[in-house]
Amino acid sequence: MNLSKRLAVLLSLIPEGGFLSDVGSDHAYLPAAAILDGKVEAAQAIDNKEGPFAHMAKTVKDLGLESRLFLSLSSGLDDLDPRATTLVLAGMGGDLISSILLKGKAKLGAVEHLVVDAHSERSLLQETLLGLGYAPEAGRFIADRGKFYSLERWSKGTFEKELAPIERRYGILPSRGHEEAFLSYLRAEEARMKAQLAHPSLPEDKKKEAEGTIRLIEEYLHENA
Ligand SMILES: C[S@@+](CC[C@H](N)C(=O)[O-])C[C@H]1O[C@@H](n2cnc3c(N)ncnc32)[C@H](O)[C@@H]1O
Repeated sequence: MNLSKRLAVLLSLIPEGGFLSDVGSDHAYLPAAAILDGKVEAAQAIDNKEGPFAHMAKTVKDLGLESRLFLSLSSGLDDLDPRATTLVLAGMGGDLISSILLKGKAKLGAVEHLVVDAHSERSLLQETLLGLGYAPEAGRFIADRGKFYSLERWSKGTFEKELAPIERRYGILPSRGHEEAFLSYLRAEEARMKAQLAHPSLPEDKKKEAEGTIRLIEEYLHENA
């Protein structure tokens, strides 16, 4: 399969073995690739909308995966296969991913690994994952087609390290501090904050927040770039 760079990195973060459920799967490309790659024997693709469900059905038919990739038109973890040991939640806001996990947390018993790609609200998702008893295990921060993505695998376990301010703001990742894409992302964030500050009507609380973020980024870049 011809996967985008983002999906290929997500695939690399999926552990071998067990049963995979991809929630908010759209075309079901990722679970299909995980099966074809031999990472998992079987998988489930879930989406809560008719259009994406039709895309998923087409992928299954085109690739002849009817007996190994099971589809569900349902919301969040409502119809999660109880065999699921790895969950993927990718391409959604961190607030939506958080709410899906919190609403369905009673179903997470067998889920050892969560592979996530939150397009916003990453620090909120991080709080949720830590609260649910998962710890960051592996991750890549990448640029793909002009956008930045934080692709992360969290696994059951406790995380006892004190978070640095930059990690509270932008998330914890074992390799993040050394990835060029993360440094480019921080530079872009800094420019975005400076552009916000140039607006004379920016409310005082937003101004303070932007100034604080700029200070944090400048300190980090000074020490790490
Ligand atoms: C932008 S797509 C991402 C597709 C794929 N996961 C990826 O990373 O390329 C987000 C998908 O999540 C689905 N979705 C949104 N909320 C959902 C929910 N509560 N339960 C299941 N699917 C949901 C949408 O219908 C959409 O197909």
